[in-house]
Amino acid sequence: MKSDQPDGAPTTAPLSGISIVGTGSAVPKRLVTNTDLEEIMDTSDEWIIKRTGIRERHVHDREAGETTSTMATEAAQRAIKAAGMTASDLDMVICGTMTPDMPTPSAACIIADKLGAGQIAAFDLNAACSGFVYALNAAHALMVGGPYRSCLVIGADSVTRYCDFSTFGRAVAVLFGDGAGACVLQQTDDTAKGLITQYMHSDGGGAKHLYIPTRKGDFYDQAEFDERQVSHILMHGPGVFKFAVSTFPKLIAQTLDSAGLNPEDIDHYICHQSNARILAAARDRFGLPEEKLYVNIDRFGNTVGASIPLILDEQTRAGAVKPGQKVMFLAFGAGLTWASSLWQF
Ligand code: UT7
Repeated sequence: MKSDQPDGAPTTAPLSGISIVGTGSAVPKRLVTNTDLEEIMDTSDEWIIKRTGIRERHVHDREAGETTSTMATEAAQRAIKAAGMTASDLDMVICGTMTPDMPTPSAACIIADKLGAGQIAAFDLNAACSGFVYALNAAHALMVGGPYRSCLVIGADSVTRYCDFSTFGRAVAVLFGDGAGACVLQQTDDTAKGLITQYMHSDGGGAKHLYIPTRKGDFYDQAEFDERQVSHILMHGPGVFKFAVSTFPKLIAQTLDSAGLNPEDIDHYICHQSNARILAAARDRFGLPEEKLYVNIDRFGNTVGASIPLILDEQTRAGAVKPGQKVMFLAFGAGLTWASSLWQF
């Protein structure tokens, strides 16, 4: 159902007052260009740009101590500073990640401790590339329903440790990069601001298209077993591409319909960066101008849970995201998972 309000009219129903009051991001120092990849595997700058839009990505150095939690802590410190707060003001940390430093403790517990946030709620949420959007929606619900007034939401991944940087793994390795992004949510009294609507979906039946087998028994198709594939991302690229291209427009339409809004009512579509062609298809489908659906995959690759908060931080610091605007976050990824979160800033 569409709104009968004039185009661009603000949503009038009172919202939660929960507001994104600070953002931050961090990427590893090491920059790997397509030309660098040409030297270690049979690929080409031309192939990578044409199929994905990626030119370079940042890759963490585990030996030098760079991990998901170190990148996330740096991003979080920047977000807290931008919010004009200190870590002791936080009530909760949720980290959307599929690559915590180790299976336990959670990255969120490590991050909360490094920040000096005290004995607050802290947990990870694994929805792969949809992790940040799932975490944002979960944080909002917990803040509305619980005693939490300030929450740090992070998307962080060091996914390149599951990539095989040889010609055997080239179809996957060229796509990914590492990074972290964070934002601080705060309860305010301004009920013109807050979450307008959100959706979260999954389809475990599609898990076989994108997963990380850790032993022979994990392979969905035993005929695909190859020792070199163990502990590396196994992706059926064209299958995931088809899923993404068809799911993205449906998710946008579902979110707009639920809010009673039209595509042009949204000021920013902040989308998971997995392939420039997938994003261009969504732009064309809804007739969106380039500045409304910003793409930075050329500089970061697919950073999994970090890709959306990296854009949010870039756009916020550039002054592009302004109070009073509507921002739709959209993601899809392994699981399969897909999710949206529409906010009134
Ligand atoms: O967050 C979600 C994560 N994943 C995605 O969103 C990925 C979605 N899928 C995609 O973006 C695309 O499927 C890819 C970019 C991964 C691949 O593009 P494609 O157009 O689907 O290529 P393809 O897999 O069909 O491969 C085409 C050719 C193959 O060679 P042949 O069989 O035609 O001789 C591949 O072996 O390209 C070859 N190829 C490469 N060549 C140079 C695959 N990877 C590379 C490479 N460099 N890195």
